[in-house]
Amino acid sequence: MSQFDVVVIGAGPGGYIAAIRSAQLGFKTACIDAGVNKAGDAPALGGTCLNVGCIPSKALLQSSEHFHAAQHDFAEHGITVGDVKFDAAKMIERKDAIVTKLTGGIKFLFQKNKVESLFGKGSFKGKNGDLYQIEVDNNGEKSVVEAKHVIVATGSVPRPLPQVEIDNVNVLDNEGALNLTAVPAKLGVIGSGVIGLEMGSVWKRVGAEVTILEAAPTFLAAADQQIAKEAFKVFTKEQGLEIELGVKIGDIVKGDNNVTVNYETAKGEAKTEIFDKLIVSIGRVPNTNGLNVEAVGLEKDERGFIKVDGECRTNLPNVWAIGDVVRGPMLAHKASDEGVAVAERIAGQKPHLDFNTIPFVIYTDPEIAWVGKTEEQLKAEGVEYKKGTSGFAANGRALGLGKAKGTVKVLACAKTDRVLGVHMIGPMVSELVAEGVMSMEFSASSEDIARIVHAHPTLSEVLHEASLAVDKRALHG
Ligand code: FAD
Ligand code: NAI
Repeated sequence: MSQFDVVVIGAGPGGYIAAIRSAQLGFKTACIDAGVNKAGDAPALGGTCLNVGCIPSKALLQSSEHFHAAQHDFAEHGITVGDVKFDAAKMIERKDAIVTKLTGGIKFLFQKNKVESLFGKGSFKGKNGDLYQIEVDNNGEKSVVEAKHVIVATGSVPRPLPQVEIDNVNVLDNEGALNLTAVPAKLGVIGSGVIGLEMGSVWKRVGAEVTILEAAPTFLAAADQQIAKEAFKVFTKEQGLEIELGVKIGDIVKGDNNVTVNYETAKGEAKTEIFDKLIVSIGRVPNTNGLNVEAVGLEKDERGFIKVDGECRTNLPNVWAIGDVVRGPMLAHKASDEGVAVAERIAGQKPHLDFNTIPFVIYTDPEIAWVGKTEEQLKAEGVEYKKGTSGFAANGRALGLGKAKGTVKVLACAKTDRVLGVHMIGPMVSELVAEGVMSMEFSASSEDIARIVHAHPTLSEVLHEASLAVDKRALHG
Protein backbone atom coordinates (compact mmCIF):
# COMPACT_ATOMS: atom_id res chain seq x y z
CA MET A 1 0.00 0.00 0.00
CA SER A 2 1.40 3.41 -0.97
CA GLN A 3 2.14 5.75 1.90
CA PHE A 4 2.43 9.52 1.57
CA ASP A 5 3.27 12.42 3.84
CA VAL A 6 0.44 14.43 2.30
CA VAL A 7 -2.60 13.32 0.33
CA VAL A 8 -4.77 16.04 -1.19
CA ILE A 9 -8.33 15.20 -2.22
CA GLY A 10 -9.36 17.43 -5.11
CA ALA A 11 -7.21 19.13 -7.76
CA GLY A 12 -9.00 22.47 -8.12
CA PRO A 13 -7.07 25.71 -7.48
CA GLY A 14 -7.07 24.87 -3.77
CA GLY A 15 -5.96 21.25 -4.05
CA TYR A 16 -3.48 21.38 -6.91
CA ILE A 17 -1.65 24.34 -5.39
CA ALA A 18 -1.62 22.65 -1.95
CA ALA A 19 -0.13 19.53 -3.56
CA ILE A 20 2.56 21.42 -5.48
CA ARG A 21 3.57 23.47 -2.44
CA SER A 22 3.65 20.34 -0.24
CA ALA A 23 5.91 18.58 -2.74
CA GLN A 24 8.14 21.65 -2.99
CA LEU A 25 8.54 21.56 0.77
CA GLY A 26 9.88 18.02 0.53
CA PHE A 27 6.79 15.99 1.35
CA LYS A 28 5.94 12.82 -0.54
CA THR A 29 2.62 14.00 -1.97
CA ALA A 30 -0.32 12.56 -3.89
CA CYS A 31 -3.33 14.41 -5.26
CA ILE A 32 -6.54 12.50 -5.92
CA ASP A 33 -9.03 13.97 -8.36
CA ALA A 34 -12.14 12.61 -10.04
CA GLY A 35 -12.59 15.38 -12.62
CA VAL A 36 -13.01 14.46 -16.28
CA ASN A 37 -12.81 16.58 -19.41
CA LYS A 38 -15.84 17.88 -21.33
CA ALA A 39 -15.93 14.81 -23.58
CA GLY A 40 -15.89 12.63 -20.46
CA ASP A 41 -13.10 10.47 -21.84
CA ALA A 42 -10.02 11.64 -19.92
CA PRO A 43 -9.11 12.99 -16.48
CA ALA A 44 -9.03 16.78 -16.24
CA LEU A 45 -7.26 18.49 -13.38
CA GLY A 46 -8.04 22.06 -12.29
CA GLY A 47 -11.49 21.64 -10.75
CA THR A 48 -14.36 24.05 -11.23
CA CYS A 49 -12.04 27.00 -11.85
CA LEU A 50 -10.26 25.67 -14.91
CA ASN A 51 -12.94 23.43 -16.37
CA VAL A 52 -16.30 25.10 -15.76
CA GLY A 53 -15.62 28.32 -13.86
CA CYS A 54 -13.15 31.20 -13.83
CA ILE A 55 -11.17 30.41 -16.96
CA PRO A 56 -13.89 29.40 -19.44
CA SER A 57 -16.16 32.23 -18.32
CA LYS A 58 -13.43 34.81 -18.89
CA ALA A 59 -12.74 33.37 -22.34
CA LEU A 60 -16.40 33.80 -23.31
CA LEU A 61 -16.53 37.27 -21.78
CA GLN A 62 -13.61 38.31 -23.98
CA SER A 63 -15.05 36.80 -27.18
CA SER A 64 -18.44 38.38 -26.62
CA GLU A 65 -16.83 41.72 -25.80
CA HIS A 66 -14.94 41.65 -29.12
CA PHE A 67 -18.14 40.90 -31.01
CA HIS A 68 -19.96 43.71 -29.28
CA ALA A 69 -17.09 46.12 -29.88
CA ALA A 70 -16.91 45.25 -33.57
CA GLN A 71 -20.60 45.99 -33.90
CA HIS A 72 -20.87 49.06 -31.72
CA ASP A 73 -17.49 50.61 -30.91
CA PHE A 74 -15.24 50.27 -33.96
CA ALA A 75 -17.02 52.95 -35.99
CA GLU A 76 -15.92 55.80 -33.69
CA HIS A 77 -12.31 54.72 -34.27
CA GLY A 78 -12.86 55.15 -37.99
CA ILE A 79 -12.97 51.43 -38.57
CA THR A 80 -15.70 50.15 -40.82
CA VAL A 81 -16.44 46.49 -40.69
CA GLY A 82 -18.90 44.72 -42.92
CA ASP A 83 -21.59 42.42 -41.76
CA VAL A 84 -20.24 41.19 -38.42
CA LYS A 85 -21.24 37.60 -37.82
CA PHE A 86 -21.09 35.55 -34.68
CA ASP A 87 -20.38 31.83 -34.46
CA ALA A 88 -21.21 30.57 -30.96
CA ALA A 89 -19.77 27.11 -31.64
CA LYS A 90 -16.43 28.66 -32.64
CA MET A 91 -16.39 30.78 -29.47
CA ILE A 92 -16.96 27.61 -27.40
CA GLU A 93 -14.22 25.80 -29.35
CA ARG A 94 -11.73 28.58 -28.49
CA LYS A 95 -12.77 28.42 -24.85
CA ASP A 96 -12.35 24.62 -24.83
CA ALA A 97 -8.84 24.96 -26.26
CA ILE A 98 -7.86 27.34 -23.44
CA VAL A 99 -9.30 24.93 -20.86
CA THR A 100 -7.42 21.98 -22.39
CA LYS A 101 -4.16 23.93 -22.42
CA LEU A 102 -4.45 24.96 -18.77
CA THR A 103 -5.68 21.63 -17.38
CA GLY A 104 -2.82 19.91 -19.25
CA GLY A 105 -0.49 22.46 -17.67
CA ILE A 106 -1.36 21.18 -14.20
CA LYS A 107 -0.53 17.63 -15.25
CA PHE A 108 2.86 18.94 -16.32
CA LEU A 109 3.33 20.86 -13.04
CA PHE A 110 2.49 17.70 -11.06
CA GLN A 111 5.14 15.77 -12.99
CA LYS A 112 7.68 18.56 -12.58
CA ASN A 113 7.12 18.80 -8.83
CA LYS A 114 6.84 15.02 -8.35
CA VAL A 115 3.24 15.08 -7.16
CA GLU A 116 1.67 11.68 -7.72
CA SER A 117 -1.59 12.25 -9.56
CA LEU A 118 -4.24 9.63 -8.74
CA PHE A 119 -7.41 9.53 -10.77
CA GLY A 120 -10.63 8.55 -9.02
CA LYS A 121 -13.02 9.44 -6.26
CA GLY A 122 -11.29 9.76 -2.90
CA SER A 123 -13.02 8.83 0.34
CA PHE A 124 -12.01 8.28 3.95
CA LYS A 125 -11.79 4.59 4.81
CA GLY A 126 -10.39 4.64 8.33
CA LYS A 127 -7.11 4.83 10.20
CA ASN A 128 -4.02 2.69 10.56
CA GLY A 129 -2.36 4.03 13.69
CA ASP A 130 -1.63 7.70 12.96
CA LEU A 131 -2.10 7.27 9.23
CA TYR A 132 -5.34 8.06 7.44
CA GLN A 133 -6.51 5.53 4.88
CA ILE A 134 -8.02 6.98 1.74
CA GLU A 135 -9.78 4.84 -0.82
CA VAL A 136 -9.43 5.82 -4.47
CA ASP A 137 -12.27 4.59 -6.66
CA ASN A 138 -11.36 4.70 -10.34
CA ASN A 139 -14.61 3.61 -11.96
CA GLY A 140 -14.97 0.63 -9.65
CA GLU A 141 -11.28 -0.21 -9.52
CA LYS A 142 -10.44 0.49 -5.90
CA SER A 143 -7.12 1.05 -4.17
CA VAL A 144 -6.14 2.47 -0.79
CA VAL A 145 -3.39 4.95 0.04
CA GLU A 146 -2.22 5.99 3.50
CA ALA A 147 -1.31 9.51 4.53
CA LYS A 148 0.07 11.31 7.55
CA HIS A 149 -1.68 14.53 6.49
CA VAL A 150 -4.86 14.85 4.45
CA ILE A 151 -5.95 18.09 2.79
CA VAL A 152 -9.59 18.07 1.72
CA ALA A 153 -10.16 20.37 -1.26
CA THR A 154 -13.32 18.94 -2.81
CA GLY A 155 -14.79 22.32 -3.76
CA SER A 156 -18.41 23.16 -4.35
CA VAL A 157 -21.34 22.39 -6.63
CA PRO A 158 -24.23 24.57 -7.83
CA ARG A 159 -26.98 25.17 -5.29
CA PRO A 160 -30.11 23.48 -6.67
CA LEU A 161 -33.44 25.26 -7.05
CA PRO A 162 -36.11 22.92 -5.69
CA GLN A 163 -38.60 23.87 -8.43
CA VAL A 164 -36.57 22.53 -11.33
CA GLU A 165 -33.89 20.00 -12.16
CA ILE A 166 -30.81 21.03 -14.12
CA ASP A 167 -30.62 19.10 -17.42
CA ASN A 168 -28.04 21.30 -19.14
CA VAL A 169 -30.21 21.23 -22.23
CA ASN A 170 -32.76 23.94 -21.48
CA VAL A 171 -32.19 24.43 -17.75
CA LEU A 172 -28.54 25.17 -17.22
CA ASP A 173 -26.05 25.51 -14.42
CA ASN A 174 -22.61 27.06 -14.97
CA GLU A 175 -21.52 24.08 -17.05
CA GLY A 176 -24.43 24.40 -19.46
CA ALA A 177 -24.22 28.18 -19.57
CA LEU A 178 -20.60 27.88 -20.69
CA ASN A 179 -21.41 25.45 -23.47
CA LEU A 180 -24.30 26.85 -25.48
CA THR A 181 -23.46 26.48 -29.14
CA ALA A 182 -26.27 28.73 -30.38
CA VAL A 183 -27.50 32.05 -29.04
CA PRO A 184 -30.87 31.66 -27.30
CA ALA A 185 -33.36 34.29 -28.42
CA LYS A 186 -34.71 34.63 -24.88
CA LEU A 187 -32.47 33.75 -21.97
CA GLY A 188 -33.71 33.68 -18.39
CA VAL A 189 -31.33 33.76 -15.45
CA ILE A 190 -32.29 33.10 -11.84
CA GLY A 191 -29.95 34.93 -9.48
CA SER A 192 -28.20 38.22 -10.23
CA GLY A 193 -24.99 37.24 -8.48
CA VAL A 194 -21.60 36.88 -10.09
CA ILE A 195 -22.44 34.01 -12.46
CA GLY A 196 -25.79 35.55 -13.43
CA LEU A 197 -24.15 38.86 -14.34
CA GLU A 198 -21.13 37.40 -16.13
CA MET A 199 -23.08 34.79 -18.11
CA GLY A 200 -26.00 37.17 -18.68
CA SER A 201 -23.50 39.69 -20.14
CA VAL A 202 -21.91 37.11 -22.45
CA TRP A 203 -25.17 36.00 -24.02
CA LYS A 204 -26.66 39.51 -24.09
CA ARG A 205 -23.66 40.85 -26.04
CA VAL A 206 -24.07 38.20 -28.70
CA GLY A 207 -27.74 38.89 -29.19
CA ALA A 208 -29.88 37.18 -26.57
CA GLU A 209 -32.66 39.03 -24.79
CA VAL A 210 -31.71 38.48 -21.16
CA THR A 211 -33.95 38.66 -18.09
CA ILE A 212 -32.41 38.14 -14.66
CA LEU A 213 -34.73 37.33 -11.77
CA GLU A 214 -33.28 38.04 -8.34
CA ALA A 215 -34.84 37.19 -4.97
CA ALA A 216 -32.96 39.80 -2.93
CA PRO A 217 -34.34 43.33 -2.87
CA THR A 218 -30.83 44.80 -3.07
CA PHE A 219 -28.59 44.50 -6.13
CA LEU A 220 -25.14 43.05 -5.33
CA ALA A 221 -25.71 43.36 -1.60
CA ALA A 222 -22.10 42.38 -0.79
CA ALA A 223 -20.66 45.24 -2.86
CA ASP A 224 -20.39 48.87 -1.84
CA GLN A 225 -23.81 50.24 -2.68
CA GLN A 226 -22.56 53.36 -4.49
CA ILE A 227 -20.72 51.08 -6.90
CA ALA A 228 -23.61 48.58 -7.07
CA LYS A 229 -26.08 51.36 -7.94
CA GLU A 230 -23.82 52.65 -10.71
CA ALA A 231 -23.46 49.10 -12.04
CA PHE A 232 -27.21 48.47 -11.96
CA LYS A 233 -27.83 51.62 -13.99
CA VAL A 234 -25.24 50.72 -16.64
CA PHE A 235 -26.36 47.08 -16.94
CA THR A 236 -30.07 47.88 -17.17
CA LYS A 237 -30.32 51.33 -18.81
CA GLU A 238 -27.32 51.20 -21.16
CA GLN A 239 -26.80 47.53 -21.83
CA GLY A 240 -30.41 46.40 -21.79
CA LEU A 241 -30.17 43.60 -19.25
CA GLU A 242 -33.59 43.20 -17.62
CA ILE A 243 -32.95 42.75 -13.91
CA GLU A 244 -35.93 42.29 -11.61
CA LEU A 245 -35.15 42.47 -7.91
CA GLY A 246 -37.16 41.12 -4.99
CA VAL A 247 -38.95 38.40 -6.96
CA LYS A 248 -40.31 35.14 -5.63
CA ILE A 249 -39.80 32.24 -8.03
CA GLY A 250 -42.88 30.00 -8.31
CA ASP A 251 -43.45 26.98 -10.52
CA ILE A 252 -41.05 26.29 -13.34
CA VAL A 253 -42.30 24.13 -16.18
CA LYS A 254 -40.01 22.55 -18.76
CA GLY A 255 -41.34 22.34 -22.31
CA ASP A 256 -39.66 20.54 -25.21
CA ASN A 257 -37.89 23.67 -26.41
CA ASN A 258 -38.48 26.19 -23.68
CA VAL A 259 -38.92 26.79 -19.97
CA THR A 260 -41.80 28.63 -18.34
CA VAL A 261 -41.03 30.52 -15.16
CA ASN A 262 -43.82 31.76 -12.92
CA TYR A 263 -42.86 34.35 -10.37
CA GLU A 264 -44.17 37.10 -8.15
CA THR A 265 -42.69 40.59 -8.53
CA ALA A 266 -41.55 42.70 -5.58
CA LYS A 267 -44.95 44.43 -5.77
CA GLY A 268 -46.80 41.11 -5.45
CA GLU A 269 -47.80 40.92 -9.10
CA ALA A 270 -47.96 37.41 -10.65
CA LYS A 271 -45.88 37.12 -13.82
CA THR A 272 -44.98 34.41 -16.32
CA GLU A 273 -42.01 34.39 -18.70
CA ILE A 274 -41.20 31.80 -21.33
CA PHE A 275 -37.49 31.41 -22.04
CA ASP A 276 -35.60 29.38 -24.63
CA LYS A 277 -32.94 28.62 -22.03
CA LEU A 278 -32.80 29.20 -18.29
CA ILE A 279 -29.61 29.56 -16.25
CA VAL A 280 -29.93 28.79 -12.54
CA SER A 281 -27.17 30.59 -10.64
CA ILE A 282 -28.31 30.95 -7.06
CA GLY A 283 -25.02 30.25 -5.32
CA ARG A 284 -22.96 27.16 -4.65
CA VAL A 285 -22.84 24.63 -1.83
CA PRO A 286 -19.86 22.76 -0.38
CA ASN A 287 -19.14 19.39 -1.96
CA THR A 288 -18.53 16.51 0.45
CA ASN A 289 -20.50 14.04 -1.59
CA GLY A 290 -18.99 10.53 -1.33
CA LEU A 291 -16.14 11.66 0.92
CA ASN A 292 -17.35 9.34 3.71
CA VAL A 293 -16.40 11.79 6.47
CA GLU A 294 -18.22 9.53 8.94
CA ALA A 295 -15.48 6.90 8.67
CA VAL A 296 -13.10 9.14 10.59
CA GLY A 297 -15.55 11.52 12.32
CA LEU A 298 -14.66 14.61 10.27
CA GLU A 299 -17.10 17.33 11.33
CA LYS A 300 -19.22 19.56 9.10
CA ASP A 301 -21.13 22.68 10.13
CA GLU A 302 -24.89 23.12 9.85
CA ARG A 303 -24.55 24.34 6.22
CA GLY A 304 -22.47 21.34 5.13
CA PHE A 305 -19.06 23.06 5.07
CA ILE A 306 -16.18 21.14 6.63
CA LYS A 307 -15.59 22.83 9.97
CA VAL A 308 -12.19 24.52 10.16
CA ASP A 309 -10.49 27.13 12.31
CA GLY A 310 -8.79 30.25 10.92
CA GLU A 311 -5.83 28.09 9.87
CA CYS A 312 -7.85 25.43 7.99
CA ARG A 313 -7.46 22.81 10.74
CA THR A 314 -10.44 20.44 11.03
CA ASN A 315 -11.54 18.69 14.23
CA LEU A 316 -9.13 15.82 13.37
CA PRO A 317 -5.37 15.96 13.89
CA ASN A 318 -3.49 16.33 10.58
CA VAL A 319 -6.67 16.66 8.53
CA TRP A 320 -7.02 20.06 6.86
CA ALA A 321 -9.64 21.54 4.55
CA ILE A 322 -9.40 24.46 2.13
CA GLY A 323 -11.23 26.34 -0.60
CA ASP A 324 -14.93 26.25 -1.43
CA VAL A 325 -15.57 23.31 0.92
CA VAL A 326 -14.85 25.56 3.94
CA ARG A 327 -16.14 28.93 5.20
CA GLY A 328 -15.27 32.18 3.48
CA PRO A 329 -15.68 33.49 -0.04
CA MET A 330 -15.85 30.89 -2.81
CA LEU A 331 -12.97 32.28 -4.86
CA ALA A 332 -10.11 30.54 -6.62
CA HIS A 333 -7.40 32.82 -5.19
CA LYS A 334 -8.70 32.29 -1.66
CA ALA A 335 -8.60 28.51 -2.23
CA SER A 336 -5.04 28.62 -3.62
CA ASP A 337 -3.70 30.83 -0.86
CA GLU A 338 -5.23 28.55 1.77
CA GLY A 339 -3.54 25.64 -0.03
CA VAL A 340 -0.13 27.27 0.19
CA ALA A 341 -0.69 28.26 3.83
CA VAL A 342 -1.70 24.72 4.85
CA ALA A 343 1.31 23.11 3.13
CA GLU A 344 3.58 25.58 4.91
CA ARG A 345 1.88 24.96 8.27
CA ILE A 346 2.45 21.22 7.82
CA ALA A 347 6.11 22.10 7.29
CA GLY A 348 6.10 24.01 10.59
CA GLN A 349 6.21 27.44 8.96
CA LYS A 350 4.06 30.42 9.92
CA PRO A 351 2.46 31.60 6.68
CA HIS A 352 0.45 34.78 6.30
CA LEU A 353 -3.06 34.93 4.87
CA ASP A 354 -5.25 37.94 5.65
CA PHE A 355 -8.91 37.24 4.97
CA ASN A 356 -9.61 41.00 5.19
CA THR A 357 -7.66 41.72 2.03
CA ILE A 358 -9.10 39.14 -0.36
CA PRO A 359 -10.07 40.95 -3.55
CA PHE A 360 -13.45 40.43 -5.24
CA VAL A 361 -13.90 40.93 -8.97
CA ILE A 362 -16.92 40.73 -11.27
CA TYR A 363 -15.80 40.58 -14.90
CA THR A 364 -18.66 42.49 -16.47
CA ASP A 365 -18.05 45.54 -18.65
CA PRO A 366 -17.40 47.80 -16.82
CA GLU A 367 -15.70 45.50 -14.35
CA ILE A 368 -16.43 45.71 -10.63
CA ALA A 369 -13.71 45.09 -8.05
CA TRP A 370 -13.17 45.72 -4.41
CA VAL A 371 -11.11 44.94 -1.35
CA GLY A 372 -11.83 45.64 2.30
CA LYS A 373 -14.86 47.19 3.93
CA THR A 374 -17.78 48.84 2.15
CA GLU A 375 -19.26 52.11 3.38
CA GLU A 376 -22.29 50.16 4.59
CA GLN A 377 -20.08 47.84 6.67
CA LEU A 378 -18.13 50.75 8.18
CA LYS A 379 -21.37 52.52 9.11
CA ALA A 380 -22.80 49.34 10.66
CA GLU A 381 -19.60 48.87 12.67
CA GLY A 382 -19.62 52.50 13.80
CA VAL A 383 -16.19 53.18 12.28
CA GLU A 384 -15.52 56.83 11.48
CA TYR A 385 -14.16 57.13 7.96
CA LYS A 386 -13.25 59.58 5.22
CA LYS A 387 -13.80 58.92 1.55
CA GLY A 388 -12.44 60.08 -1.77
CA THR A 389 -13.89 59.30 -5.17
CA SER A 390 -12.74 59.90 -8.70
CA GLY A 391 -14.15 58.91 -12.08
CA PHE A 392 -12.81 57.44 -15.30
CA ALA A 393 -14.81 59.95 -17.41
CA ALA A 394 -11.88 62.39 -17.80
CA ASN A 395 -9.05 59.86 -17.55
CA GLY A 396 -6.93 60.04 -20.69
CA ARG A 397 -6.17 56.33 -20.91
CA ALA A 398 -9.81 55.36 -20.36
CA LEU A 399 -10.87 57.83 -23.08
CA GLY A 400 -8.29 56.34 -25.45
CA LEU A 401 -9.60 52.88 -24.70
CA GLY A 402 -13.14 54.06 -25.34
CA LYS A 403 -14.08 52.97 -21.83
CA ALA A 404 -14.30 56.26 -19.95
CA LYS A 405 -16.91 55.18 -17.46
CA GLY A 406 -16.84 54.29 -13.78
CA THR A 407 -15.66 55.33 -10.37
CA VAL A 408 -12.98 54.54 -7.83
CA LYS A 409 -13.68 55.11 -4.15
CA VAL A 410 -11.13 54.98 -1.36
CA LEU A 411 -12.29 54.65 2.23
CA ALA A 412 -9.85 55.54 4.99
CA CYS A 413 -9.99 55.70 8.78
CA ALA A 414 -10.98 59.21 9.91
CA LYS A 415 -8.35 59.22 12.66
CA THR A 416 -5.35 57.36 11.21
CA ASP A 417 -6.00 57.68 7.45
CA ARG A 418 -5.32 53.92 7.09
CA VAL A 419 -7.02 52.54 3.98
CA LEU A 420 -10.04 50.45 4.99
CA GLY A 421 -11.56 49.71 1.61
CA VAL A 422 -11.14 50.36 -2.11
CA HIS A 423 -14.14 50.02 -4.41
CA MET A 424 -14.14 50.29 -8.18
CA ILE A 425 -16.27 50.07 -11.26
CA GLY A 426 -14.56 50.72 -14.57
CA PRO A 427 -12.17 49.43 -17.22
CA MET A 428 -9.70 46.73 -16.11
CA VAL A 429 -10.36 47.37 -12.43
CA SER A 430 -9.70 43.63 -11.98
CA GLU A 431 -6.04 44.61 -12.38
CA LEU A 432 -6.28 47.95 -10.59
CA VAL A 433 -7.64 46.41 -7.39
CA ALA A 434 -4.23 44.80 -6.77
CA GLU A 435 -2.88 48.21 -5.76
CA GLY A 436 -5.66 48.49 -3.19
CA VAL A 437 -4.83 45.00 -1.87
CA MET A 438 -1.14 45.84 -1.65
CA SER A 439 -1.86 49.13 0.11
CA MET A 440 -4.06 47.45 2.70
CA GLU A 441 -1.59 44.60 3.24
CA PHE A 442 1.12 47.14 4.04
CA SER A 443 -1.27 49.20 6.20
CA ALA A 444 -0.91 52.16 3.86
CA SER A 445 -2.72 55.43 4.45
CA SER A 446 -4.64 57.11 1.65
CA GLU A 447 -1.87 59.74 1.74
CA ASP A 448 0.66 56.98 0.96
CA ILE A 449 -1.20 56.15 -2.27
CA ALA A 450 -1.60 59.85 -3.00
CA ARG A 451 2.16 60.41 -2.69
CA ILE A 452 3.16 57.45 -4.90
CA VAL A 453 3.98 58.40 -8.50
CA HIS A 454 1.52 56.80 -10.89
CA ALA A 455 2.42 56.51 -14.56
CA HIS A 456 0.64 58.73 -17.03
CA PRO A 457 -1.59 58.10 -18.84
CA THR A 458 -2.84 55.05 -16.95
CA LEU A 459 -6.07 53.89 -15.40
CA SER A 460 -4.26 53.80 -12.05
CA GLU A 461 -4.33 57.60 -12.03
CA VAL A 462 -7.99 57.34 -11.05
CA LEU A 463 -7.04 55.47 -7.87
CA HIS A 464 -4.33 58.09 -7.26
CA GLU A 465 -6.85 60.89 -7.71
CA ALA A 466 -9.42 59.16 -5.44
CA SER A 467 -6.73 58.88 -2.76
CA LEU A 468 -5.93 62.58 -3.13
CA ALA A 469 -9.66 63.27 -2.84
CA VAL A 470 -9.78 61.58 0.59
CA ASP A 471 -7.89 64.60 1.88
CA LYS A 472 -9.72 67.01 -0.44
CA ARG A 473 -6.59 67.44 -2.54
CA ALA A 474 -7.94 66.17 -5.86
CA LEU A 475 -6.20 67.90 -8.77
CA HIS A 476 -8.66 67.04 -11.50
CA GLY A 477 -11.85 66.89 -9.43
P1 FAD B 1 -12.94 23.15 -7.06
O1 FAD B 1 -12.35 24.02 -8.07
O2 FAD B 1 -14.41 22.95 -7.10
O3 FAD B 1 -12.21 21.74 -7.21
C1 FAD B 1 -12.59 20.62 -6.50
C2 FAD B 1 -12.04 19.41 -7.19
O4 FAD B 1 -12.23 18.29 -6.34
C3 FAD B 1 -12.70 19.06 -8.51
O5 FAD B 1 -11.73 18.79 -9.48
C4 FAD B 1 -13.49 17.78 -8.21
O6 FAD B 1 -13.55 16.91 -9.32
C5 FAD B 1 -12.65 17.18 -7.11
N1 FAD B 1 -13.37 16.30 -6.19
C6 FAD B 1 -14.49 16.55 -5.48
N2 FAD B 1 -14.78 15.50 -4.68
C7 FAD B 1 -13.82 14.59 -4.90
C8 FAD B 1 -13.55 13.32 -4.37
N3 FAD B 1 -14.33 12.77 -3.43
N4 FAD B 1 -12.47 12.64 -4.82
C9 FAD B 1 -11.65 13.16 -5.77
N5 FAD B 1 -11.86 14.38 -6.29
C10 FAD B 1 -12.92 15.08 -5.85
N6 FAD B 1 -13.44 32.38 -8.69
C11 FAD B 1 -12.56 33.39 -8.87
O7 FAD B 1 -11.74 33.65 -7.98
N7 FAD B 1 -12.56 34.14 -10.01
C12 FAD B 1 -13.44 33.90 -11.02
O8 FAD B 1 -13.41 34.59 -12.04
C13 FAD B 1 -14.37 32.85 -10.87
N8 FAD B 1 -15.25 32.59 -11.84
C14 FAD B 1 -16.12 31.53 -11.68
C15 FAD B 1 -17.04 31.29 -12.69
C16 FAD B 1 -17.95 30.26 -12.56
C17 FAD B 1 -18.93 30.00 -13.67
C18 FAD B 1 -17.92 29.44 -11.39
C19 FAD B 1 -18.88 28.29 -11.23
C20 FAD B 1 -17.02 29.69 -10.37
C21 FAD B 1 -16.12 30.74 -10.50
N9 FAD B 1 -15.20 31.05 -9.50
C22 FAD B 1 -14.33 32.10 -9.66
C23 FAD B 1 -15.12 30.27 -8.26
C24 FAD B 1 -13.98 29.26 -8.33
O9 FAD B 1 -14.14 28.42 -9.45
C25 FAD B 1 -13.94 28.43 -7.06
O10 FAD B 1 -13.88 29.29 -5.93
C26 FAD B 1 -12.73 27.52 -7.04
O11 FAD B 1 -12.72 26.66 -8.14
C27 FAD B 1 -12.68 26.71 -5.75
O12 FAD B 1 -11.55 25.91 -5.76
P2 FAD B 1 -11.49 24.54 -4.93
O13 FAD B 1 -10.14 23.98 -5.20
O14 FAD B 1 -11.91 24.77 -3.55
O15 FAD B 1 -12.60 23.60 -5.58
P1 NAI C 1 -23.87 34.33 -5.93
O1 NAI C 1 -23.91 34.03 -4.49
O2 NAI C 1 -22.88 35.30 -6.45
O3 NAI C 1 -25.29 34.87 -6.40
C1 NAI C 1 -26.47 34.15 -6.23
C2 NAI C 1 -27.64 35.10 -6.34
O4 NAI C 1 -28.82 34.34 -6.41
C3 NAI C 1 -27.77 36.02 -5.13
O5 NAI C 1 -27.91 37.34 -5.57
C4 NAI C 1 -29.00 35.50 -4.41
O6 NAI C 1 -29.71 36.50 -3.74
C5 NAI C 1 -29.80 34.93 -5.57
N1 NAI C 1 -30.76 33.89 -5.19
C6 NAI C 1 -30.60 32.90 -4.28
N2 NAI C 1 -31.71 32.13 -4.23
C7 NAI C 1 -32.56 32.62 -5.16
C8 NAI C 1 -33.86 32.25 -5.60
N3 NAI C 1 -34.50 31.20 -5.09
N4 NAI C 1 -34.45 32.99 -6.56
C9 NAI C 1 -33.81 34.06 -7.10
N5 NAI C 1 -32.59 34.47 -6.72
C10 NAI C 1 -31.96 33.75 -5.77
O7 NAI C 1 -23.76 32.92 -6.66
P2 NAI C 1 -23.48 32.51 -8.16
O8 NAI C 1 -23.67 33.65 -9.07
O9 NAI C 1 -24.27 31.26 -8.36
O10 NAI C 1 -21.95 32.13 -8.12
C11 NAI C 1 -21.48 31.15 -7.20
C12 NAI C 1 -20.15 31.52 -6.66
O11 NAI C 1 -19.16 31.34 -7.65
C13 NAI C 1 -20.03 32.98 -6.25
O12 NAI C 1 -20.45 33.16 -4.93
C14 NAI C 1 -18.58 33.26 -6.38
O13 NAI C 1 -17.95 32.93 -5.18
C15 NAI C 1 -18.14 32.30 -7.47
N6 NAI C 1 -17.95 33.05 -8.72
C16 NAI C 1 -16.98 34.01 -8.75
C17 NAI C 1 -16.76 34.75 -9.87
C18 NAI C 1 -15.75 35.83 -9.84
O14 NAI C 1 -14.98 35.88 -8.90
N7 NAI C 1 -15.70 36.69 -10.83
C19 NAI C 1 -17.52 34.51 -11.10
C20 NAI C 1 -18.55 33.51 -10.94
C21 NAI C 1 -18.71 32.80 -9.79
